[in-house]
Amino acid sequence: MSPDDRFVPGGAALSARTAAVWSVLYGELGRRPGAELSIVDVGGGTGGFAVPLAQLGHVVTVVDPSPDALATLDRRAQTADVADRIRAIQGDTDTLLDLVAPDSADLVLCHSLLEVVDDPERTLRRVAAVLRAGGCLSVLVANRAAAVLARALGGHFAEAQRALADPEGRWGDGDGSTRRFDTGRILAMLDGVGLSVEQLHGVRVVADLVPGAVADGAGESLVDVELALAAVSPYRDIATQLHVLARKP
Ligand SMILES: C[S@@+](CC[C@H](N)C(=O)[O-])C[C@H]1O[C@@H](n2cnc3c(N)ncnc32)[C@H](O)[C@@H]1O
Repeated sequence: MSPDDRFVPGGAALSARTAAVWSVLYGELGRRPGAELSIVDVGGGTGGFAVPLAQLGHVVTVVDPSPDALATLDRRAQTADVADRIRAIQGDTDTLLDLVAPDSADLVLCHSLLEVVDDPERTLRRVAAVLRAGGCLSVLVANRAAAVLARALGGHFAEAQRALADPEGRWGDGDGSTRRFDTGRILAMLDGVGLSVEQLHGVRVVADLVPGAVADGAGESLVDVELALAAVSPYRDIATQLHVLARKP
C-alpha cells in the first residue's frame, strides 16, 4: 500500500476492522487510474463504503430497503459534499434488476448482505447480473470459523459444537445471525454464478480478539498486523469475516 492508502478517502485513518477490504478495493480501483467508475453497493446501508468511494470520484448507486439507513446515507453524502455522485434507491435484491441495469457496473459491493437475505444463492445471481463483463464483485461475509472459536473461547462449548455442525453456522436459538459462511461455500457460490475468484482475504483476523483497551491504543500497528495476516492461511481462515474479490469474465 502507498502512504495515501493508509487513509480512507475523506481523510480518516484506516481502521483495523476494514483495512483489508480497503486494501483490495484500492488495488482494484488502481487498475483504471483517473476513470470515473460506476459502482453499485447492494445493501449499502448508511454509506460506510459508498461515501468514501464517491469521494474518490466514482459514481455510486446504493440499493437498500431501509429508509433510515438511506436518510443517514443522504446526510453523510451532503456533509462529504458528494451528494451529486451518490444515487440512493430504496429497494431490495428482489427488485435489483428493475432498479439497476444489468451488465452495467464496473464494481459491485455486496458487504454483510448474504448473511441476512432469504436466499443467498438467488441474491448472488442477481448481484452478479449487475456487473459488466470485466467488472468486479466485492463480497464480505461472516465466517463460521470465527464464531466457533469465539463461542469456545467464551466457554460456551456446546454452542461452539453447534456452530460447527449447523448448516448455517448458527450456535443456537439466541444467535442473532441468520447464517455464516465457510470459505468453500462462498467460493462455490461465486463459481456457480459464473464469477472468477481473484482474491480471498480474512477481515478482522485479530482485531476482535485483542482486548478493547489494547486495540484502542494500538493505532497503525494493529492495522499493519491485520494487513499482514489477511491473505495468509491459516490466519485468514479464522477471521471474523471473509472478503472475496471475483471478476465477471
Ligand atoms: C449489516 S448491514 C450492512 C451495510 C453495509 N453493506 C456495510 O457493510 O456496512 C445490511 C444491510 O442490508 C440491507 N438489506 C437487508 N435485506 C436486504 C435485501 N433483501 N436487499 C438489499 N439490502 C438489504 C439492510 O437494510 C442493511 O442496510
